Amino acid sequence: MRLASRNRGVEWSGIRVMFSLADEIPGVINLGIGQPDFDTPEFIREAAKKALDDGFTRYPPAKGFQDLRWAISEKLKRENHFAADPETEIFVAVGAMQVVFNTCLHVVETGDEVIVVDPGYDYYSQIRLFGGIPVRVPAEERNKFKVNPEDIRAAVTDKTKLMIINTPANPTGAMIDGPKLGEIAALARENDLMVLSDEPYEHIVFDGNHHVSIASFEGMRERTISAFTLSKSYAMTGWRVGYVTAPRVIIDEMEKLMEHMVSGVTAVAQRAALAALTGPQGCIQEMLRQYNQRRLLVHRGLNALEGVSCLMPEGTFYAFPNFSKLGLTSWDLAKYLVQEQKVALIPGSIFGEKGEGHLRLSFAADPERLEEGIERIRKGVEALAE
Ligand SMILES: Cc1ncc(COP(=O)(O)O)c(C=O)c1O
Repeated sequence: MRLASRNRGVEWSGIRVMFSLADEIPGVINLGIGQPDFDTPEFIREAAKKALDDGFTRYPPAKGFQDLRWAISEKLKRENHFAADPETEIFVAVGAMQVVFNTCLHVVETGDEVIVVDPGYDYYSQIRLFGGIPVRVPAEERNKFKVNPEDIRAAVTDKTKLMIINTPANPTGAMIDGPKLGEIAALARENDLMVLSDEPYEHIVFDGNHHVSIASFEGMRERTISAFTLSKSYAMTGWRVGYVTAPRVIIDEMEKLMEHMVSGVTAVAQRAALAALTGPQGCIQEMLRQYNQRRLLVHRGLNALEGVSCLMPEGTFYAFPNFSKLGLTSWDLAKYLVQEQKVALIPGSIFGEKGEGHLRLSFAADPERLEEGIERIRKGVEALAE
């Protein structure tokens, strides 16, 4: 078969590779999966059932139902502190993932440089697919994995077009506070950069921290594409609903292409999303309370291991412990732990060079499994030290 060469630079996701290893091992405890272990709250499921009976079984509008876009606009005003016109500046997408993909498709051209944070979520394939060059800016562990705006400034060249910001961050759990985000916003304006602000974990923040959206800064809405999702906040990863707010030209491009691509986001999933955004928000607080207990359990458990250290995650449901004292690469260590100790974590090097020596552990799992998982890591670490 003579396939087009376009997709050749795209690699299989390292996370999937790890999961296929884990799937072959009976009794494995998988602490790699980045999704809530909770069920979607009942009132959201009920809304979806009702939507089916109400006839939401036909093609939806390509950019999302109008009432959902209005509800999103209200939410952005209320929680993210910026305005977006529901008719022209909001698009309902197949998760935040589609927003990342479409942004690269609409913005990145051959030779464009795109600034990404290392370690950080894997945006490399999408950037490379459209001929872009990812430029890594370090988020040093000694700086609590927080990116330094001056390092971003130093990475800007006349080829830089886009910068991708993800706070709270996968895999480190680090957050960028308001003043630092303000500095990043200023340098985006000074250098005429576009920003993709990927915010799937906006609600999963601890210790009274507040999530800040970069689009809420003066002069940023006109250069920012903000990606949000129902996946993490409402335990809705399988429903595949997210949304984006951006200047009209980008939303128009997304809508135009959506018609040719998949027509729209599944109607019934959109009705569930509307219920989630307009219904009682207590479910988020309840999940957050449980994530917090697990976060403390994992932080305590990992730091008690000889040769292992772990920063306290400020947001998300990921811990990013440092195993570098053991002297193995993160892939070798992850393979060893899954094959010998039956506990699956994600190798940190998947998230960039600066992730080497670390593993990502998701604490979106029940406390018993977390305790058993940490016990298995302990046995593995001790066996390596012998
Ligand atoms: C940083 C980041 N961006 C985007 C996504 C994609 O989320 P969604 O389920 O909304 O497509 C994820 C999911 O893990 C993520 O961690």
